[in-house]
Amino acid sequence: MNLKIALLSGDGIGPEVLAQAVKCLQSVETTFNHHFTFSPALVGATAIDQTGTPLPDETLELCKNSDAVLFGAIGDPKYDNDPNAKVRPEQGLLKLRKELGLFSNIRPVRVYQSLIDRSPLKKEIVSGVDFTIYRELTGGIYFGEKKINEKGTVASDLCEYSEKEISRIAHLAFKAAKSRRKKVTLVDKANVLESSRLWRKVVTRIGESYPEIELDFLFVDNAAMQMILNPSQFDVILTNNMFGDIISDEASVITGSIGLLASASVGADNAMFEPIHGSFPQATGLDIANPIAAILSAAMLLEHHGLIEEAQAIHMAVENAILNNVVTPDLNADSTLGTDYVGDYIANSIVDTDEYLHLNNE
Ligand code: IPM
Ligand code: MN
Repeated sequence: MNLKIALLSGDGIGPEVLAQAVKCLQSVETTFNHHFTFSPALVGATAIDQTGTPLPDETLELCKNSDAVLFGAIGDPKYDNDPNAKVRPEQGLLKLRKELGLFSNIRPVRVYQSLIDRSPLKKEIVSGVDFTIYRELTGGIYFGEKKINEKGTVASDLCEYSEKEISRIAHLAFKAAKSRRKKVTLVDKANVLESSRLWRKVVTRIGESYPEIELDFLFVDNAAMQMILNPSQFDVILTNNMFGDIISDEASVITGSIGLLASASVGADNAMFEPIHGSFPQATGLDIANPIAAILSAAMLLEHHGLIEEAQAIHMAVENAILNNVVTPDLNADSTLGTDYVGDYIANSIVDTDEYLHLNNE
């Protein structure tokens, strides 16, 4: 298969971790005989520094004309602490999501048995946790009308959702549940918010056309608590943009390191893949960032394009690295192994399992 991949490394540790994901994709190319082309482009603070804008037109064009976007990270502390900044790196990511129509953000949360001691939660609580968050990504309070009065003393952000925006992601969540444990949990605040009541109405109606899927509802405050008390109750979580942002960071803690979590953002015509961790400025250039989230994002890219065995091969290579303790210090405080070393190790252990089994049976 030929795939055109736009490489948006972005800020902080983005370039370091994305380089490892590219190594793994190149290893998949040779092992499985595919052809991938990688085209780098600017985004985020790096793009502001060089062009004055966080999402240059060339970058957007490139992404629109690619089969997939591989994204590193975005953000720089010099903007976080300046409430008057006119341009912000995050605007680049938000515009990219909107322009590419990436309405569904998929964040799998899976606990590796061999890393169970890394979780701050008790073993018996995290053992076997395996759920996926479907976060709406192009609507709600992130994109509603923003206002501030002339004096600068009153500000508001509108949280608006249409039936159409809710139903298109709800269908994806129900379909995902079909091939999983057949449960969808809608996380909302329907006891207070009108937009959440619309979510309940639309999702309940859609649920009727998926009779094999159990649908339940949790208010977001209770969901935040349940995620720590009993995370294995979840299979597919469906939620709006803001609640999804918050609970997915919370969920990442369960696994022991945010450096393990990948994500896919998909729309009708485009798809983007990125680690859920941020730009981690304190670690930039130190060769300590965990490349696994970026590498697993590359696996999601392959899966999205139907390359299931190839994605599986990456998963196995990652598991092999974890089992052999070839990990960065976030997963093993005694480790002296760096981003690049772990990336090489994983890329070099990507094998075609079919061929491997075949050879061993001869
Ligand atoms: C995420 C990030 C972004 C978001 C920021 C960087 C705009 O936190 O992808 O979760 O809030 O969506
Ligand atoms: Mn976030």
